[in-house]
Amino acid sequence: MSAPAPAPVLSLRGVTKRFGGLLALAGIDLDVRPGEVLGLIGPNGSGKSTLLSVIAGRQRPSAGAIRLDGRDVAGRDSVRLCRAGIACTFQLVRLPDTLSARDNVAVAAMYGRRRLGIERARHLADELLERVAFGADRHALPAALTYSDQKRVELARALATEPRILLLDEWLAGLTPTELADALDLVAGLRRDHALTLVVVEHVMAAIRTLCERVAVLDAGRLIAEGSVEACLSDPEVVRVYLGDEDA
Ligand SMILES: Nc1ncnc2c1ncn2[C@@H]1O[C@H](COP(=O)(O)OP(=O)(O)O)[C@@H](O)[C@H]1O
Ligand SMILES: [Mg+2]
Repeated sequence: MSAPAPAPVLSLRGVTKRFGGLLALAGIDLDVRPGEVLGLIGPNGSGKSTLLSVIAGRQRPSAGAIRLDGRDVAGRDSVRLCRAGIACTFQLVRLPDTLSARDNVAVAAMYGRRRLGIERARHLADELLERVAFGADRHALPAALTYSDQKRVELARALATEPRILLLDEWLAGLTPTELADALDLVAGLRRDHALTLVVVEHVMAAIRTLCERVAVLDAGRLIAEGSVEACLSDPEVVRVYLGDEDA
């Protein structure tokens, strides 16, 4: 007899998001299992970023249930969800530009799960910036940093809240092949060392194949496939939506 599947850490039922007349998410049912890396793929505009935003509490769902460890958290704000263990990086990096790289990360540690005081928060920020291979001056303002270093600050900032579930929105996009290989190693190492559950939105299929055990495919706000990476990528409907998308 095989062991029963572990209860999902995150469970979505009928999650819907409307922007005026646009149905960005049309009733998503999806379970995320503890410790897995779930890839979320789909053409541009299919609702991937909206789904991560709704899970992270940055936007309220129009309808549906989002359960974290069995408790419905739909509609809670991002600070409460962060303290419950969900962190998210933005597709478009948005770091407050009046704070240094280090203090951007430290502030997240002060508002995160452990609510550290400023000294311990800065100490953790230094450790995390090193962990994510931040290469610049940690006292620099974000605007003075390269795109790649801004992304590293953003990842350190998410980690500083000490999440159990980390949502990455195209964190690997725009890297050179060498940077991508290093970044994949980094994400795999973070997952192991921080016992993270990850939901990864990504266009780079090589990255999805390397990182993910399972993928979910969105098209026009609907979940059209879910399962192993190979099964999903050979699914005729998935092939059809991707062939219609010049970015794929
Ligand atoms: N804040 C918003 N207001 C209005 N429409 C939005 C907003 N955010 C996203 N959308 C629309 O919702 C759809 C899904 O967008 P998005 O989640 O960003 O897709 P993806 O990340 O898959 O490219 C798109 O049609 C987009 O234009
Ligand atoms: Mg997006």
